[in-house]
Amino acid sequence: MVKKSSAPPSAQATWGGRFAEGPSALMLRFSESISFDARLAPFDIQGSKAHSAMLAATGLISTEERDAIHAGLDAILNEINAGKFRWEPALEDVHMNIEQALVKRVPAAAKLHTARSRNDQIATDMHLFFKDAATRLHDALTALLRVITDLAAGHVETFVPGYTHLQRAQPVSVAHHLLAYAEMFGRDRERIEAFAVRANECPLGSGAIAGTSLPVDRALVAKLLGFVDARGRPRLTANSMDAVADRDLFIEFAAACALCGVHFSRVAEDIILWNSAEFGFISLPDAFTTGSSLMPQKKNPDSLELLRGKSARLQGNLHTLLTLVKGLPLTYNRDLQEDKPPVFDSLDTTLLCLDVLRETLRGTRFNVARCAAAAADPLLLATDLADYLVRKGVPFREAHHAVGGVVALAEKNGVSLNALSIEQVRSVNAAFDADWTDIFDIKKVMRTRERPGMPGPRQTAAQLTHWKKRLV
Ligand code: ARG
Repeated sequence: MVKKSSAPPSAQATWGGRFAEGPSALMLRFSESISFDARLAPFDIQGSKAHSAMLAATGLISTEERDAIHAGLDAILNEINAGKFRWEPALEDVHMNIEQALVKRVPAAAKLHTARSRNDQIATDMHLFFKDAATRLHDALTALLRVITDLAAGHVETFVPGYTHLQRAQPVSVAHHLLAYAEMFGRDRERIEAFAVRANECPLGSGAIAGTSLPVDRALVAKLLGFVDARGRPRLTANSMDAVADRDLFIEFAAACALCGVHFSRVAEDIILWNSAEFGFISLPDAFTTGSSLMPQKKNPDSLELLRGKSARLQGNLHTLLTLVKGLPLTYNRDLQEDKPPVFDSLDTTLLCLDVLRETLRGTRFNVARCAAAAADPLLLATDLADYLVRKGVPFREAHHAVGGVVALAEKNGVSLNALSIEQVRSVNAAFDADWTDIFDIKKVMRTRERPGMPGPRQTAAQLTHWKKRLV
């Protein structure tokens, strides 16, 4: 048996005119969104204040009515902020909760919804939400980038093996490695900046689907809500149908967060490896690790494992949104109410992850001696040895082959690459001279990596200066 609605009589006041009976309690529980969209209240109220200001400016309501609406909305926002507002699930969503609370206090509130639909209202709320979210993400990414670049600045001359296929490849500086992360998160920041530009358009005035016959001033609303370009000109959505149906911003936002999450995950994986006894390049802060309940010696890199894990959630949110929208006919369909939880979760998760990664990195210390020992592996300089032969006039393919032969010889004799005699290496290729071991000086080798994008100390210092400027 499905229970009859227990909703107060005002519940369907906004649309109940043609109904003889209210929705069932089950339907109300199914269709409510206040449990997650209440967080839009500040944006909803901001939108309603701008809308009512416009209604007054165009003569659709009086200035007294506008002032009463504004005072009522301000009082409601104060109550919400103080945790004293009673959210009513029977009133479905944030729009109706606020409007009905306002109607109880201010008779003029009955005119607030003039020339507006919840369809353009939710689109406007979300554009405001996204602009705010973009600022918060941008700030959090900037804070992370500062910690990464500060950590890098201390390790321009700390060298470690760089890896391909998780095999030791060529030496790089710790700074260069960390600045690779800065590039990743720098791109995330740029994506958010581009996203914020697209979010900066006002959908209000699109109505339910086809605008309104009433004389609204869309430009005024846009200006009041800050949807303006650099010269203060209003930015309006161009098509009322698209404005209420479009969820591209949601998908772009979730995509930007998902990609940022992929970056969390890749960085986390590097650091987890570096933190293992096998690598031993770093020690992690106690505050972001945990122990084992069984094994007393353990110090587990949980913050990083969780960063890796939460990236899955961020990808899931993107997938949810893509699937939600793909088959929908224009324009608004109630399915779209499901667009908010993944977006909210992506914002909250990404912000939390950014904080945790930043603080984990802030407390990370490099074990310089272990890094130096690993970077001293002469095999890391096999490519430089091939380049040495190239400088002696040997074609690179032949040089590569010759060094391969030298490596095999060292392996066969059980000695390290640079311990072979000149006779031994000359037996592989006659181009080797007595100076062939000079290349096994990592400091010198790194100073040969001074062209743009390379890990040489001067290049790295220039990159750090560049980042300092970008992060003011
Ligand atoms: N809570 C709704 C949502 O988030 C607001 C728009 C409702 N519009 C409607 N026609 N039922 O999608």
